[in-house]
Amino acid sequence: MTASRTDPIYVTQPYLPPLDEFIPYLEEIWASKTLTNGGPFHQQLEQALCDYLGVKHLALFTNGTIALVTALQALRITGEVITTPYSFVATSHSLLWNGIKPVFADVDPLTLNLDPARIEAAITPQTTAIMPVHVYGHPCDVEAIQTIADNYNLKVIYDAAHAFGVEDAGGSILRHGDLSVLSFHATKVFNTFEGGAIVCPDAKTKLRIDQLKNFGHVGEVTVVASGINGKMSEVNAAFGLLQLKHVDQALARREEIDARYRELLKGTRGIRCPEDGGERVANHAYFPILVGPEYPLSRDALYQKLRDHHIHARRYFYPLISDFPMYRNLPSAHRDNLPVASAAAQQVLCLPIYPALQDAQVEEIAGLIGAWAATRASAKAMAEAFA
Ligand SMILES: Cc1ncc(COP(=O)(O)O)c(C=O)c1O
Repeated sequence: MTASRTDPIYVTQPYLPPLDEFIPYLEEIWASKTLTNGGPFHQQLEQALCDYLGVKHLALFTNGTIALVTALQALRITGEVITTPYSFVATSHSLLWNGIKPVFADVDPLTLNLDPARIEAAITPQTTAIMPVHVYGHPCDVEAIQTIADNYNLKVIYDAAHAFGVEDAGGSILRHGDLSVLSFHATKVFNTFEGGAIVCPDAKTKLRIDQLKNFGHVGEVTVVASGINGKMSEVNAAFGLLQLKHVDQALARREEIDARYRELLKGTRGIRCPEDGGERVANHAYFPILVGPEYPLSRDALYQKLRDHHIHARRYFYPLISDFPMYRNLPSAHRDNLPVASAAAQQVLCLPIYPALQDAQVEEIAGLIGAWAATRASAKAMAEAFA
């Protein structure tokens, strides 16, 4: 890229297959006049995703947030739920929408996922469940979390919004816990414009989830629960089927970009990448860096300088969820309870990563970050020499 580039580079750009490949799907919808309510594309996408992800049961949703809200309803969760402050705000909002009290626990300094020791310390007689997040698609310590859940008889609902396609040594990361919730929002590695899903272990649970996402209807004149409208439309489901044909290629390109960033940023003092969670298959959904004190610019100064170059990195996750007004008065939201998450929120910057990002753009972004480090370092050395 030349220095005169003025087109902005955003943190992400949705993957869109060629438009003409989508037209036949639309023609089918127009012919069948089935627009929603579990139509043929909806059914096909549920099966195709089970096959692709290697999971047994999956219920599609209109978005990941409604899926989270419904997952809590499906397991009849009440009281207190232990969760992470280091996530997108929908994680905790799903608890508030169910009248559940979020209890924030701190994260692990290497992966930035919930720290199992801190989960255990946060359990009270009111605790009924744990809602961890596989942040950036890096798996949580699923074994330790399950052990705690078993010991204290708690449910585990994973917010797996970032974890499409991620696998550990035993298979899909989505098989862990009682339920896992995916988001297919436009910004995610696999998108249906808007969309989401709940992955569940058995047909009985899927049936309850399917009832809850359809107002609680079980027949023309029978309603068994105060459900919601969480159904995915046929257009979104059809788009998902088309996306699935391209997703391997999109994931492969993300892997290349991730590797290139790592190579280019390797020697840059003060820049560190969070550790992965030991995944066997990663999805490279995000490229977070932590801007430490040895880097000559603060995280916010780096964010601003990149913006001056039309590079829109994002501070995911800053502010912490626990700092938002509807959460900050909770005792668990106090900064002293969350030192690791608080420090990460001050240091993190997610760099652009998406399949259409060019090598030259990756080189430009990493080059600027490296060059500012070098310029400031040499200015400091000169100042010291002449002092
Ligand atoms: C961690 C996390 N949880 C939940 C959501 C909500 O998903 P959706 O936008 O599909 O409602 C998102 C992203 O959007 C997310 O990043």
